[in-house]
Amino acid sequence: MDERLARIRENERKSHTEIFLGEKLYDTDSWLKKPIRTVKEIVSVFDEYNDLHVLDLGCGIGRNSIFIAEKFRDKKCIIDCVDLLEIAVDKLSQNAKDRGVDSIINGVVGSIEEYRIRKDSYDLIMAVSALEHVETSDVFCRKLTEIKDGLRQNGVVCLVINSDVSEYNAKTKEQAEAQFEVNLPTAVIQSFLAEVFDDFCVLKKSVTRQEYDIPREGFISHLDTSVITFVAQKKV
Ligand SMILES: C[S@@+](CC[C@H](N)C(=O)[O-])C[C@H]1O[C@@H](n2cnc3c(N)ncnc32)[C@H](O)[C@@H]1O
Repeated sequence: MDERLARIRENERKSHTEIFLGEKLYDTDSWLKKPIRTVKEIVSVFDEYNDLHVLDLGCGIGRNSIFIAEKFRDKKCIIDCVDLLEIAVDKLSQNAKDRGVDSIINGVVGSIEEYRIRKDSYDLIMAVSALEHVETSDVFCRKLTEIKDGLRQNGVVCLVINSDVSEYNAKTKEQAEAQFEVNLPTAVIQSFLAEVFDDFCVLKKSVTRQEYDIPREGFISHLDTSVITFVAQKKV
């Protein structure tokens, strides 16, 4: 692992550990307050399913997966939840237990890079603010293809990806290193998505410019990002 990657991974580990230990799922003012709107919107696609297999890459403590598990608790549903951080998966399992959906949530400690997505296995594959944290843009592209192949017929891919990220010290205005392993221009990611999912039916596609302050190692960083949301369904 090169120096830049190791530095970003370590900073990420620290900041996520602090958030995951300090905050309670759905009972906080941070981003862990509720599932993302896009996930809430798309789950109705599966209302008639009796058997649902979901993959959540970079799942965190289950903000999106626990919501789906609760909705499908009376059906045959398995959600494979992958995260690099042991603390995330521990918290995810505890949250699942507390909410009576532990038989649905299958937590896996491991990297997105190494998790092998079996072909034709999933009805829904999501990666929310996670895919841009793989090691390189080559892995990023390979993972998109794996996701495509991993979906069953009518399966849905749901991606939220930060792009064109810039950061600067909010106080001194000095430029800071963006803490994203893969930081590509928005148009480049859009072209990858269009190419890989060219035979899918696009259900949602948007880019939202977001700015916010975020604590980094020893300073507050002002972060500017174009968030790509992409949802598409595999058709015959
Ligand atoms: C911004 S959080 C989002 C969590 C969750 N998807 C959500 O929306 O609440 C990113 C998560 O991805 C995990 N992560 C980062 N890089 C990863 C990698 N290469 N493999 C697996 N998980 C990773 C982090 O540990 C963290 O839990």
